Amino acid sequence: MTASESPSLSERVTSIEPTPIRTMYNLAEEQGGDLVRLEIGEPDFDTPEHIIDAAMEAAHRGGTHYTSNAGIPALREAIAEKSARDHDLAIDPEDVVATAGGTEALLLALLSVAGRGEEVVVPTPAWPQYRMQIKLTDATPVEIPHSATDDFALDVDRVIDAIGDRTACVILNSPSNPTSQVYDPEPVAAVVEAAAKHDAYVILDEVYASLAFDGDGRSLAADLDANNVVHVNACSKQYAMTGWRLGWLAGPESVVNGAMKLHPGTSTCPSSVSQHAAVEALVGPQDAAKEMYRAFEERRDYVRDRVAEIPTLSCPDPEGGFYAFVDVSAFDGSSFDVAKRLCREYGVVTVPGEGFGAGGEGHLRLSFANSLDRLELGFDRIEAMVRDERE
Ligand SMILES: Cc1ncc(COP(=O)(O)O)c(C=O)c1O
Repeated sequence: MTASESPSLSERVTSIEPTPIRTMYNLAEEQGGDLVRLEIGEPDFDTPEHIIDAAMEAAHRGGTHYTSNAGIPALREAIAEKSARDHDLAIDPEDVVATAGGTEALLLALLSVAGRGEEVVVPTPAWPQYRMQIKLTDATPVEIPHSATDDFALDVDRVIDAIGDRTACVILNSPSNPTSQVYDPEPVAAVVEAAAKHDAYVILDEVYASLAFDGDGRSLAADLDANNVVHVNACSKQYAMTGWRLGWLAGPESVVNGAMKLHPGTSTCPSSVSQHAAVEALVGPQDAAKEMYRAFEERRDYVRDRVAEIPTLSCPDPEGGFYAFVDVSAFDGSSFDVAKRLCREYGVVTVPGEGFGAGGEGHLRLSFANSLDRLELGFDRIEAMVRDERE
């Protein structure tokens, strides 16, 4: 059967653009050869052995069935324990819904609170999947572009100005993908308060919270006494568990009930084997996670130094996560043009900033979830491009 014989697809599919990360990934796959892959946003480490062992044991013991829509009780308790231990965030296990990655937590939260005719406010540049997910809810994304000149710090006044009666929620991501900035608690509290006045929620995406380098890893929700905040986190980044698809949301009873009601329509529950693995990850030994953290911190320092040394390049100090959002506006063409040239002529794969929404143009996102050797090679090549193009 050919595509032309098939009935047409939904407007939803046709209106959604592929993410820039996927576009660059496909370009790199087509091109092949010795490429330094700095486009991927996942740890280059494998999941620690003890977590894999726990999953295998659980599977052999029969932990292979559907679980409750909220997840197994041991996992909900482990999430509460980890949140208090690492993020100073008090969560009642009853207020947790375990999900297939942070992605499903965000989708269930959005589907629970937003719908047709409503708006979702997002400071940008931001993770492109927010836009996609907002469209899946039939709500309208309202992007508030932030500026590199302020290191992409949260512009409270403009975010608050965008909140109105049609606002269903605001999505805040800290540490941020792609800017790696960590928000201060006060502006976040001000946005939460403004949202509450308009009967709107704030979704706090903290999937990189355990990779905040200079702070104490404290959740931005820790000090908030609010019933309109939904916290999202996942095992993916901290424990190198991207493929296990295990995340969670925690929040007010209204959203937890909404997510539980919708969960049978998305995945029912996260993989039961992954849930058992996550219990071990969250409350088992933390040595491997600490080692990965130190490796990311060392790479962050390396990337920061290399960017500072190369003329015409700059980036805000990466405060958390594993991205540098590098200003390449001195180069000819759009960020997509620059990313393509860098890939085709110099063999370094990055993600163009224009794909992260308003405010992203003129930048490339480089992931430092890669070995120091590969980062060194990548930056040597970037340096060569800067030299060639300045001549
Ligand atoms: C900002 C942000 N939020 C959420 C996610 C989703 O993470 P997960 O792999 O757990 O679905 C990602 C993944 O890259 C991300 O960058």
